[in-house]
Amino acid sequence: MAVERTLSIIKPDAVAKNVIGEIYSRFETSGLKVIAARMLHLSQAEAEGFYAVHRSRPFFSDLVKFMISGPVMVQVLEGEDAIRKNRDLMGATDPKKAEKGTIRADFADSIDANAVHGSDAPETAAVEIAYYFPALNIYSR
Ligand code: PPS
Repeated sequence: MAVERTLSIIKPDAVAKNVIGEIYSRFETSGLKVIAARMLHLSQAEAEGFYAVHRSRPFFSDLVKFMISGPVMVQVLEGEDAIRKNRDLMGATDPKKAEKGTIRADFADSIDANAVHGSDAPETAAVEIAYYFPALNIYSR
């Protein structure tokens, strides 16, 4: 199994619930390493840029509004099969459909405020990681 990197965001709802540590613990327990991290409050332009692929979706403006509603915690995770592993930990986009014990089942309130983001493929992971982190600020271990 290949060692991969993926971009994870703990969204404003989960930061407000004070569960950053709980979510990090799930990453670490599953063998994922946090190799870069920043807390930041996205500007509208930054959130629109990050979600540009969804620009024509009906939920786009609500998604941007939500993502700039408070600080987020952004991290790069590294490990074997990291992209799939992180998405398994996250659970389905809609927390009502997320499997028991996943981050979204445990901490998300709705499909709009769904606690976490995770890259969905190696190509998107590379683009998303570069969006937030210069290579010099990533500490592979
Ligand atoms: S989809 O519907 O399968 O294309 O959704 P997905 O590619 O997983 O990601 C869409 C991102 O928008 C967020 N979002 C919503 N998706 C669907 N419906 C509604 N109403 C909605 N509101 C917000 C969703 O969480 C995805 O964001 P990220 O940050 O990637 O999880």
